[in-house]
Amino acid sequence: MHVAADMAKVSSNPRFSERVSQLLSNMHLHEKIGQLCQVSGCEGHVSEHLAQQVRDGWVGSVINEVDGPTVNYLQHIAKQESRLGIPLLIGRDVIHGFKTIFPIPLGQAASWNAELVEQAARIAALEANSVGVNWTFAPMIDISRDPRWGRIAESLGEDPYLCSILGAAMVDGFQGTDMSESGQIAACAKHFAGYGATESGRDYGTTNIPENELRNIYLPPFKMASDSGAATFMSSFSDLNGVPASGNRWLMKKILREEWGFKGFVVSDWESIYQLEIHGLTENSRDSAQKAFNAGLDMEMVSTTYREHLEELLETKQVDIAQVDHSVGLILSVKEQLGLFDKDCQSPDTADAFYQQESLDVAKQIATQSCVLLKNHNQTLPINAQETQHIALIGPLADDGFEQLGTWIFDGEPQHSVTIRSALESACPSSVNITYDRAMATTRSYTTDLYAQALASANQADVIVMCVGEEAILSGEAHCRADIDLPGSQMELIEKMAELGKPIVLVVLAGRPLTLEPIIEKVDSVLYAWHPGTMAGPAIADLLLGEAVPSGKLPVTFPRKVGQIPLYYNQKNSGKPATNDQYIHMNDIPPRSPQTSLGMAAIHLDTHFSPLFEFGFGLSYSQFTYSQLTLSQHHINRSETLEVAVTVHNTGDWDADEVVQLYIRDLVASATRPVKELKQFSRVHVKRGEHKKVIFSLNINDLSFYNDEMQWAAESGHFHVWVGGSSATTLQQGFELIDG
Ligand code: GLC
Repeated sequence: MHVAADMAKVSSNPRFSERVSQLLSNMHLHEKIGQLCQVSGCEGHVSEHLAQQVRDGWVGSVINEVDGPTVNYLQHIAKQESRLGIPLLIGRDVIHGFKTIFPIPLGQAASWNAELVEQAARIAALEANSVGVNWTFAPMIDISRDPRWGRIAESLGEDPYLCSILGAAMVDGFQGTDMSESGQIAACAKHFAGYGATESGRDYGTTNIPENELRNIYLPPFKMASDSGAATFMSSFSDLNGVPASGNRWLMKKILREEWGFKGFVVSDWESIYQLEIHGLTENSRDSAQKAFNAGLDMEMVSTTYREHLEELLETKQVDIAQVDHSVGLILSVKEQLGLFDKDCQSPDTADAFYQQESLDVAKQIATQSCVLLKNHNQTLPINAQETQHIALIGPLADDGFEQLGTWIFDGEPQHSVTIRSALESACPSSVNITYDRAMATTRSYTTDLYAQALASANQADVIVMCVGEEAILSGEAHCRADIDLPGSQMELIEKMAELGKPIVLVVLAGRPLTLEPIIEKVDSVLYAWHPGTMAGPAIADLLLGEAVPSGKLPVTFPRKVGQIPLYYNQKNSGKPATNDQYIHMNDIPPRSPQTSLGMAAIHLDTHFSPLFEFGFGLSYSQFTYSQLTLSQHHINRSETLEVAVTVHNTGDWDADEVVQLYIRDLVASATRPVKELKQFSRVHVKRGEHKKVIFSLNINDLSFYNDEMQWAAESGHFHVWVGGSSATTLQQGFELIDG
């Protein structure tokens, strides 16, 4: 390609280091454009073409190359054979582990344990960095209210506060306090922004989000990630209010740069710049390059519009060289923060970092804490192995080391998985006979030829443990479902098992909330395990046998029916809210009822308006009661902090953890506020019979929101505050925010 004479009048940017500024002043134009380009690796092979591209300075980053020696070779070319020796960013989707696989992020969110989430990210970074990966495309912090969307699996759930806290924990885990240290990698907050609001839960769909909702619900996790020092952001595929995020100047310049002062760089999603033409935002790829670059998108992932058109756009002054210098400077600065200029960038060609015992211990611990006990009728769980002769283990997910890993597993290895079956067999005394029947070839099977054997085994058992749910492929990117029942004939299998009259424990592995209402009454206990990762088996076995006590809480609402979606706890009240005294089921309506006889409220006639399980819900083997909810004062001004205290009493027979949650409601405001908003939470350990006082503090920031004029403000007036073990808590107090 003709390389135009260097047009650099390097924009002096006080924020860039001396090294970066010096590089910018020495770079030829094509080398600058090269830094804005990420190319796809060849999975362990370096073509001469790629080698030459790197040598000529046309490549700033490589994605999807994780073969250590290959990465070393690419870095050698970049640092030793190119004119300026600029190292490469090596990017990979390390979403919930690299080799040691942790629960899917939705499962990690169910732990409500920021420390564990951070540890998991740190381990993932250590393992990935050992092969030369220095950039991950995580955390995914899209608020996800729609379980039809396959990517809810990859998210941290429906709540802005929980997602913000856990997303920041992942950033800290990946990046550490100094990204240049070995084992740390750059994080990437994605997908900016509003991707989870995709219509009907179909991926890549249109999102129409009023600015007030965008600012109060979808943006807070990204703001927290920016404030936490996330090195990079990724623009979303989705069309946001008519302007696709990857060409949305308001989002990437006004919000991210001008309002938030974000200092990292923005990478596109895979070919999302090229897709602007498909969206109908641009005429051709030249326009796409111009639109995206001027909207603030610094690096192009895989498509080549920048490489093909930036030089011409500069010549025609449709793009400014100062902006090119700025983007290149941001990218070079991240490389500098990673220490890539000073390291030899030669990763050790060993697998020593993989599957360390400490890593497996953390994987088990977070898998244990991510499981949510949704039902436990008659205390069917835990199983007393000393008094049980026969456990019938049934189902397609009981012994499948691949499926338990979940979606977004590029580098996980099923052969390292410990399955539920193997863990139970190891954990139970030899006196317990554990029979195993898969019963279905896959979770989507409709053939019933394996039922007979499974039913025969179950009929002999003291307790039936069914491992059901979704294979990994049914969730994740582009894997959306219009019906979120248990797939295949699993419900039929459960019903047949129920006819045996034996205690049934349902262990559900899935990448989303499923509509369990059709079978919930057929089983005695339900343990929701999401896709728990490498150590699924030991975690679940410990919970089933009482070696561990369930403590997970739902990070997302479980609807009764798919038709209720979107259904989330922090909804607005509406002018005619649903109430039980106004609810009548369709089947109970008297014939020829007059039009207005049913009451007029926000309900569906064919299902109750409540969720099957609410946000924040999760049972324990023990029981907790909450009392003595007290406020330090009932009137606070803007400079004061409100202390909220509550006593948690473990009234059960087990020492156990409880996630204590604090919600508020701003009763009257210039823009309507949700009926509840999570503002604090604390995971506490309470010994059986003991009480624990938990104290939270609320300040003016906790009471603030974007109001009807898009101003971040707390408006004086009355608030409710609740504390409890789920968003359904009724333990309530009130206070007033007064001016002054
Ligand atoms: C994918 C995803 C994004 C991922 C990227 C690189 O399409 O949308 O989350 O990081 O491409 O694999």
